[in-house]
Amino acid sequence: MDNLLSMEDLTTNEIYELVKRASAIKNGELQPQRYDNKFVSNLFFENSTRTKSSFLVAEQKLGLKLIDFETTTSSVQKGETLYDTCKTLEQVGADVLVIRHSQTTYYDELKSINVPIINAGDGSGQHPTQSLLDIMTKYEEFQTFEDLNILICGDIKNSRVARSNFQSLTALGANVMLSSPDAWKDSSIDAPYEDIDTVIDKVDIVMLLRVQHERHKDGDTTQFEETDYHERFGLTKERYNRLKTQAIVMHPAPVNRGVEIEHSLVEASKSRIFKQMENGMYLRMAVIGYILQTEGAETNETINKC
Ligand code: CP
Repeated sequence: MDNLLSMEDLTTNEIYELVKRASAIKNGELQPQRYDNKFVSNLFFENSTRTKSSFLVAEQKLGLKLIDFETTTSSVQKGETLYDTCKTLEQVGADVLVIRHSQTTYYDELKSINVPIINAGDGSGQHPTQSLLDIMTKYEEFQTFEDLNILICGDIKNSRVARSNFQSLTALGANVMLSSPDAWKDSSIDAPYEDIDTVIDKVDIVMLLRVQHERHKDGDTTQFEETDYHERFGLTKERYNRLKTQAIVMHPAPVNRGVEIEHSLVEASKSRIFKQMENGMYLRMAVIGYILQTEGAETNETINKC
């Protein structure tokens, strides 16, 4: 795997391998290879708390050296293009680039950059490491995806998390359903739309999505009112109480408390929202190792024994 740009880049075997590798690191069953002589740069052209900080910790645990990059103090402010920024980092010796950008498929213009790229989110396109950490969290809970009923609820059209997760969860054998206001439905995702109140007591996992105000065009927001959204599509206490005993609640975060989920439910017993963030660091260690692995690095055989 040269790059990780989309969940479409991964086979189901590779998804399982990355999740098992991350779990093995987390459980202390695998000591990951160190990359003390490798350099990484994190290029975040969009805001981030979890993804950026967990990549930073993962990189430092693996011994990587950081090439500092901030859009506000870089030559991006002088009009430098994304391609020229990445080409510069290639020339100064970056071994891997982690990139988040508001432009969907920004990586199409980086095909001739000779440094592996990990996509940390492209516009409303993909967020593969979020999808993988979500899969890791589900796998910890259920140890299978076959016949799991998963409801993804919220701003489907503008969510790279919804798109990444739908593709991979379907490939892994889960039944994915969607629930969304009409304005935020996405006909390119081939899953049934359901009324949340009809299915909430049947699902194993409810995945709530953040309302993506920053990606909305006028037509997307004219109908939006927080209280109304919460009542119609949010996880209220009433809906939470109808969940199956073993069901779990997920959200990629940041959470708009009181909108997608009632404030007190964010850390309720069925919530795995902060577990997702913990898993994200281990999963990103696994992805970086997978990208950088060389002859003699830990093998698939090692992982499969874990
Ligand atoms: N889930 C997620 O991508 O969070 P951040 O925007 O804080 O990185």
